[in-house]
Amino acid sequence: MAQQSIFERYTVTAALPYANGPIHIGHLAGCFIPADIYARYLRSKQRQVLFISGSDEHGVSITIRAKQEGITPQQIVDKYHYLNKQDLEELGISFDIFSRTSSQVHYETASDFFTTLYKKGILIARETEQYYDPAAQQFLADRYIRGTCPKCGYPDAYGDQCEACGTTLSPEELINPRSALSGEKPILKTTKHWYLPLNEYEGWLKHWILETHTDWKSNVYGQCKSWLEQGLQPRAVTRDLDWGVPVPLPEAMHKVLYVWFDAPIGYISATKEWAAQNEQVWEPFWKDSQTKLVHFLGKDNIVFHSIIFPVMLQAHGGFILPDQVPANEFMNLEGQKISTSRNHAVWLHEYLEKFKDKQDVLRYVLCTNAPESKDSDFTWQDFQAKNNNELVATLGNFVNRTLVLIHKYFAGIVPETTSLTKVDQAVIEHMQKAPQAIGEAIERFKFKEAIQKWMDLGRIGNKYLADTEPWHLIKTMPEQVQTILNISLQLTAHIAILGAPFLPFTTRKLADMLLLESLLWDDAGKVDIILPGARINPPQLLFDRIEDEMINQQRSY
Ligand code: 2FM
Ligand code: ZN
Repeated sequence: MAQQSIFERYTVTAALPYANGPIHIGHLAGCFIPADIYARYLRSKQRQVLFISGSDEHGVSITIRAKQEGITPQQIVDKYHYLNKQDLEELGISFDIFSRTSSQVHYETASDFFTTLYKKGILIARETEQYYDPAAQQFLADRYIRGTCPKCGYPDAYGDQCEACGTTLSPEELINPRSALSGEKPILKTTKHWYLPLNEYEGWLKHWILETHTDWKSNVYGQCKSWLEQGLQPRAVTRDLDWGVPVPLPEAMHKVLYVWFDAPIGYISATKEWAAQNEQVWEPFWKDSQTKLVHFLGKDNIVFHSIIFPVMLQAHGGFILPDQVPANEFMNLEGQKISTSRNHAVWLHEYLEKFKDKQDVLRYVLCTNAPESKDSDFTWQDFQAKNNNELVATLGNFVNRTLVLIHKYFAGIVPETTSLTKVDQAVIEHMQKAPQAIGEAIERFKFKEAIQKWMDLGRIGNKYLADTEPWHLIKTMPEQVQTILNISLQLTAHIAILGAPFLPFTTRKLADMLLLESLLWDDAGKVDIILPGARINPPQLLFDRIEDEMINQQRSY
């Protein structure tokens, strides 16, 4: 029996993308691909997994985009929710549910969550002065205030950040502030909001993160430490806006829950929705202390998932807390930051259209180059090289040669192993260790290391065939050829089983050629996954070369 982890149930979340634009490679490399590999791996280990995400449909990023496109916020979120849901599905991101925060169940869940905190007396009400646009008759979110950056003098800085020098700002710091809605000078006006007193949880957080979560990734742990050392302030969880979940208090007309308050509750709402659709109960995924809650996200989301949301859950009571927050850094494109506004991105929908049936190539390249511990860079040249040299020339070549030779010499019937040489034994040993080595890397969120170890199976296979040259032995030592091809075939089966979380489409195709039905992780590590005498299907190519012309067409920036 394979050793089972004491945690059998996992709630795996991928940060909810804003429904204000399409998905790009930054979202994929930073969050969706690692989360999907992890979820697929856990399923292959037969653990109970609920993998959730959905569209984040509130906040000013939505209302701003709606204004830019001249349509309503509802039209914007409808447009991008369905586009993103479909594209992520086409890339093989295996969500159990991809929900949205405009759903009825989410409104109720977020609203009730706020009410519970309010009734427990946890939230603090405060009146402050905030910028108000008299012409547009509304309070201005930080993003709606523009002005001159006090640091670098850039005249078009936002109220929360200067895009020219990258400084984080607050609206009062801007010189000559103006409303992005009317262009008028905003006035200061009193408004009431409700705050989550993060400061009161500082001691608890210090213990919970800095002492009991020393196992978190160092980029995550480091960011939490620095936030906690700077000291936490109460944080407003409501906003003056007409788009969002209304604050459930009679005195809070035209106020909504802050998007970063409602969005993570979206994970809970999505679980409820999934449970209702599948005749299941949602509570074990959020309330059973044996469940592991794992949040995948990009580095800009760390504070929300490791500090603010845990405080919300703890303050509410009755919920488990995240066990792991495996955040990634950012992926750049051809040496420059990915930018939606400058259209400097590789958009998923465009990739899927141009590179038909090559989902796994993108998955492979983004995983091998994931920004796990520092920012990484995507280049089309590297994309082409990884496809042509690694997927085609190494992995595809090994699999194809093995299957072609079995068909050529043994009419597609799996040969028997006879006596083993040292070379054969070394290959077997490597194969036997692979499931654990790759599995451990995945469990430590080292997906780059895991996929390299998987690709090593192809490298070892190719070397094995090159060293033993079965085509030269077939006349003189046919028994040895039987052994070599049997072992090569078992290696091929390992490639199918252990590669399934990374390259689900290709490994399914391979498993079909091998007539392997299930792809359970614990079936690997054995030398008789495919029994002698079994029949296998004729080979089909797993990957094709990508030529320069195709690559040159992509470099349009
Ligand atoms: O940064 C973002 O894209 C946010 N929409 C992520 C939200 S994650 C969560 F908490 F829901
Ligand atoms: Zn600046």
